[in-house]
Amino acid sequence: MNENTIPKRYTITSALPYANGPLHIGHIAGAYLPADTYVRYLRLRGREVVYICGSDEHGAAITLRAKKEETSPQAIVDKYHNQIKEAFVQFGFTFDIYHRTSAPLHHETAQWFFRQLNDKGEFVVQTSEQYYDEEYDQFLADRYITGECPNCHNPNAYGDQCEKCGTALSPLELINPLSTLSGKAPILRETKHWYLPLDKYQPWLEEWLLEGKKGKWKKNVYGQCKSWLEAGLLPRSMTRDLDWGVPVPLEDAEGKVLYVWLDAPIGYISATKEWARQHGKDWEIYWKKQENPEDDSRLIHFVGKDNIVFHCIIFPSILHAEGSFILPDNVPANEFLNLEGDKLSTSRNWAVWLHEYLEDFPGKQDVLRYVLLSIGPESKDSEFTWKDFQERNNSELANILGNLVNRLKLLHKYYGGLVPVANGLADDAEAQLVLKQIKVHKDNIAENLENFRFRDALMEYMNIARLGNKYLTDEEPWKKWKTDPEHVGRTLYTATQVVAALGILGKIFLPDAAEKILDFFFLDSKSLSWDDLQKDELVSSGSPTKQPEMLFPKIEDDIIQQQLDKLEANKKAKEGVEVSESKVAPAKEAITFDDFMKLDLRNGVILEAATVPKADKLLQFKVDTGLDVRTIVSGVAEHFKPEDLLGKQVTLVANLAPRKIRGVVSQGMILFAEDADGKLHLVNPEYDVMKGSVVK
Ligand code: 2FM
Ligand code: ZN
Repeated sequence: MNENTIPKRYTITSALPYANGPLHIGHIAGAYLPADTYVRYLRLRGREVVYICGSDEHGAAITLRAKKEETSPQAIVDKYHNQIKEAFVQFGFTFDIYHRTSAPLHHETAQWFFRQLNDKGEFVVQTSEQYYDEEYDQFLADRYITGECPNCHNPNAYGDQCEKCGTALSPLELINPLSTLSGKAPILRETKHWYLPLDKYQPWLEEWLLEGKKGKWKKNVYGQCKSWLEAGLLPRSMTRDLDWGVPVPLEDAEGKVLYVWLDAPIGYISATKEWARQHGKDWEIYWKKQENPEDDSRLIHFVGKDNIVFHCIIFPSILHAEGSFILPDNVPANEFLNLEGDKLSTSRNWAVWLHEYLEDFPGKQDVLRYVLLSIGPESKDSEFTWKDFQERNNSELANILGNLVNRLKLLHKYYGGLVPVANGLADDAEAQLVLKQIKVHKDNIAENLENFRFRDALMEYMNIARLGNKYLTDEEPWKKWKTDPEHVGRTLYTATQVVAALGILGKIFLPDAAEKILDFFFLDSKSLSWDDLQKDELVSSGSPTKQPEMLFPKIEDDIIQQQLDKLEANKKAKEGVEVSESKVAPAKEAITFDDFMKLDLRNGVILEAATVPKADKLLQFKVDTGLDVRTIVSGVAEHFKPEDLLGKQVTLVANLAPRKIRGVVSQGMILFAEDADGKLHLVNPEYDVMKGSVVK
């Protein structure tokens, strides 16, 4: 970027996560880590920036979760807001504020927007038929309706989308819709809603976005917007019949709230207002068009792939319709991150959760930062594997960066920990080349970051460490120490400058390591900035240094295996829960121990087995119970032939009162297990046991 076109200030946002569950590495790689890296870069450059995030606390995502956890939406958002915020803080994200959309200031701000648009006559008010659950007496939000996808016939598609084939749907398109509340078929009922006429804004969007952002926005983002626009935009309802959300601020809208995708992005504005209030600043300079457009803040939304349409089309349309706000300059959205060959999935628990990572890898925030930035799904989907995580820590962070820093132990070996004098530096071609190269890599880092190419920027950073290692290996100071101490002085002085530059630039990518590197030179991380990198000398001769500590200990195989085992175990546990939720018969009422003790359960052996005349379903057995040989009749003829069971050990209830079944007196009951498909299996001991053994 040309220095003359540097904006006055930056308004940076990361998508407000729904406060309905913890965050996983896919979220981090998508909307948070690139943003935090970018913001760290801007701050290092001394640019004015406000970095906004917070919890998205409305919408069906929240009420559905509350229903699942059998609690209130408020309890859900309180729980997850705190959990997410805590994990973000621990990870080291540097939001200026982490706000929440349940805050009164947010409700007020979102309502103000709605009123503005309503007063300007922007909304189209329309009555239409929507699904209604009679038993629960409420209209059903799209997510509350499931049914068969008209496209791929997945029987569990949602009212807004089929997650199997990805088609966007409307509830009316579902075949055989069912309410997720009552499980019954909903009825259609008339309701009034306020629609944003996206069709009316289409020509403007084509100009502002398709023409204005061509070649400026990432291809994956631009391409998605283009196909939305090519398909033709339709009016979109900005209100919902729900009792959780920002109430629609109109008299004739009782029981209605703002559509969550109207209120959530306004959350960026209300969060900025709150931050400004706390810090005595003017929020408007971060959001409003200034008299001179050159004074406008540069608005950048960092989001994941699934949020593109909302940030590139719907929110800009809202801002445009209002008129006095700036529009996003860029939306550098990422694609999806996969995990170990499969899609990350909250519902299948196929995820690496941020809060669990922080517990399992204390002090290793930088490692996850490094790995996720290295593999960021910037232009296409990418994949996280634990093996790759280990490899990148051990072979890159430890062997390249950590190793270079560690080599400065030579300062202690030869110079009592002081940075040596560099006599003849100006004439040392190798040293001069290295010092020059640092600046080249630094410029490349800037160029990449200005264009949201985080992977390349990180690569350039590591190239500085590679440069340092190669230089030391080529110069071999350990061999020259006796014969050419002046040369060694220059070499270690130069290597020191390389490591110090890595300390300063590390503030962008590896903040904890950067702090340690700079502390090694007794430098205060806060007082160093980008401009310092222009200097020829970052640490002067004679400066004291500390003994370097190991920055990136190797991660051993067993640690990685534990994570892989955990993933599998989580998935299995989830599958187990799903099976039990879907197929297993409900639990019976509890009985007392005394009730249980009344049962006389024993092992016996089937001596004879035969069909029962005129009773298709019955078999009759002679069973040796150890106490006696008796007749027992069971309704299992559809599952077994008599010979299947002959001679088998069985478990039976020996003290069941005799019952006459089809003319035969049955004196007990043989136990069978019935599986989810209704198939029966004998319940018998693993090894032969004595007849008459008591089962307890
Ligand atoms: O997809 C999500 O998690 C949304 N809660 C993101 C909202 S971003 C913004 F609009 F607030
Ligand atoms: Zn489908």
